[in-house]
Amino acid sequence: MKLLGTIGANVLLLGLSMMIQTAAGGQSPEAVYQKACKVCHASGLAGAPRMGHVADWKVRRELTMEALLHSVVQGKGSMPAKGMCMDCSTEDFVAVIRYMMSEQ
Ligand code: HEC
Repeated sequence: MKLLGTIGANVLLLGLSMMIQTAAGGQSPEAVYQKACKVCHASGLAGAPRMGHVADWKVRRELTMEALLHSVVQGKGSMPAKGMCMDCSTEDFVAVIRYMMSEQ
């Protein structure tokens, strides 16, 4: 029983440290783009503004980061809520939006 208790505590600690890492570390914008956003934003699927395409982002530059963030988190048009990145934090979304808007 004592052994089981130790294993349980270790699993809990591992879980906690992973949560802290995700919250504090953040994800690289490239990695988020590759895994979640690229599927639509590389080709402009269903009218998605293309990655690094200045013209596609022109009207969106008029919007605030808050508005863009809201579109991604809530979903907009054919874009599903959170742009299919379920483990992205607000900071991750802001970073990847900046990355996609920047000229490549
Ligand atoms: C299933 C396809 C799909 C995926 C996956 C997707 N998007 Fe989109 N995204 C779209 C489409 C379509 C639009 C255009 C929506 C519109 O203007 O009606 C869009 C629009 C946007 C906009 C502009 C919002 C606005 O208010 O005009 C941002 C910013 C954006 N996406 C970011 C992201 C990010 C960041 C990810 C990845 C975390 C992502 N998208 C994943 C399809 C997608």
